[in-house]
Amino acid sequence: MSTQKIGLLGFGCVGEGVYNICQNGRSNSFTIGPIGVKRKNVKRILPESRFEFQAENLIENDNDLYIEAISETDAAYDFFRKVREQDKPIVLASKKMVADHLKEIADTAVTNPQSIAWEATCCGAIPVVRTIDQYFDQEKIKYLGGVFNGSSNYILTRLHETELDFDQALLQAQELGFAEADPSLDVDGWDAANKLSILILHAFGQIIHPRDIWVKGIRQVSKKQVSQAQRNKLKIKLLAHAQLNEDNELQAFLAPSYVPEEHPLYSVENEDNAVSLDGEYSGLHLFKGKGAGSYTTGSAVIADAEWLKNGGGYKLSKYKAQSNVRLSQESTIRVAISGHHIPKDIWTKLEHAEEGHASGSIALKSLKALSENRPELSIISLELLASDIKLI
Ligand SMILES: NC(=O)c1ccc[n+]([C@@H]2O[C@H](COP(=O)([O-])OP(=O)(O)OC[C@H]3O[C@@H](n4cnc5c(N)ncnc54)[C@H](OP(=O)(O)O)[C@@H]3O)[C@@H](O)[C@H]2O)c1
Repeated sequence: MSTQKIGLLGFGCVGEGVYNICQNGRSNSFTIGPIGVKRKNVKRILPESRFEFQAENLIENDNDLYIEAISETDAAYDFFRKVREQDKPIVLASKKMVADHLKEIADTAVTNPQSIAWEATCCGAIPVVRTIDQYFDQEKIKYLGGVFNGSSNYILTRLHETELDFDQALLQAQELGFAEADPSLDVDGWDAANKLSILILHAFGQIIHPRDIWVKGIRQVSKKQVSQAQRNKLKIKLLAHAQLNEDNELQAFLAPSYVPEEHPLYSVENEDNAVSLDGEYSGLHLFKGKGAGSYTTGSAVIADAEWLKNGGGYKLSKYKAQSNVRLSQESTIRVAISGHHIPKDIWTKLEHAEEGHASGSIALKSLKALSENRPELSIISLELLASDIKLI
């Protein structure tokens, strides 16, 4: 089998993992050519002569395949465009970039399937993008959801299992390298929402940007709420949720959610990720594993590179068929809200209310507006619970 030369952009957590995996002999298919980074005079495991500081210079080098694994979204997009102008294949890791440019990226894959792959963008090492795309392409998926952000899950696990409060748990996650110095993408839900957007493309054939759905992070989850949940044999987890009804209306959101003991996502702890999927004929599945990390994410990137080299490519069957699935923002979900001056006009059905707490049904579009206008309110989804549980 001939060896291909990879042009690698990024030498942080993911890029270094890709490099080390290749060096360790996990794949005989590739050699790493020049490596693109941003900063000069940084101590790295390789000499400075191995690096390029202009991404264009990578492309001028005649590589067979490119890997994008960088933290700057605009630069990642620019690199993707330049590589494709040269008609070379590219593996993408930047989930925000892929979610932000999902239509263009999906159309690239439709036009030229062997030119592009993005497994690493969704839940690190869990092989879920290709699985949904290839195995479930002809089956209706009724539900897709799960724990899509390891940092938030780690923080919530610490809130449940220790005396730590949110700030202390966040600090611990940062010290252990599970959360960025700027943790907002993680704890405010946008990282997980980017992954949900990408998985919705494969599972339901729709381009839905995270800003078009209700996204609520975990900053307002209090120690008191966690204790109340535990007394009711529940856990609070940041869950992605996409549910298709009989009329092909898709209900999609990302929010803290009460999870009952018998639910498969209940036992997904610490920095683990999990994707739960309910197929019309195949039933319920749970994919669980490492959602981030150097070698773990690097392994997904290399698997994509090998797949493209061997003629692989996404089917995107539901996207190509222009599935008549529609995002439903009018549909209601059950939530519990805590905080001062909870607006009265948002409830379509109010079940319980007392000072500072209320629960009942609210339309997703109202929840989105409420989260944007009143970010200090704590809102937790009750969708996975039997309706008669009273949490306030
Ligand atoms: N970490 C994970 O587990 C994980 C999992 C899945 C997906 N991802 C995605 O993979 C991408 C990389 O993540 P990471 O954790 O490896 O980030 P990281 O550790 O912060 O490393 C980022 C790398 O990008 C380079 N870079 C940033 N801007 C650049 C630019 N304009 N031109 C060239 N290089 C540039 C940096 O160069 P310098 O070295 O010079 O600073 C660094 O090597 C991100 O988009 C992330 O969302 C990460």
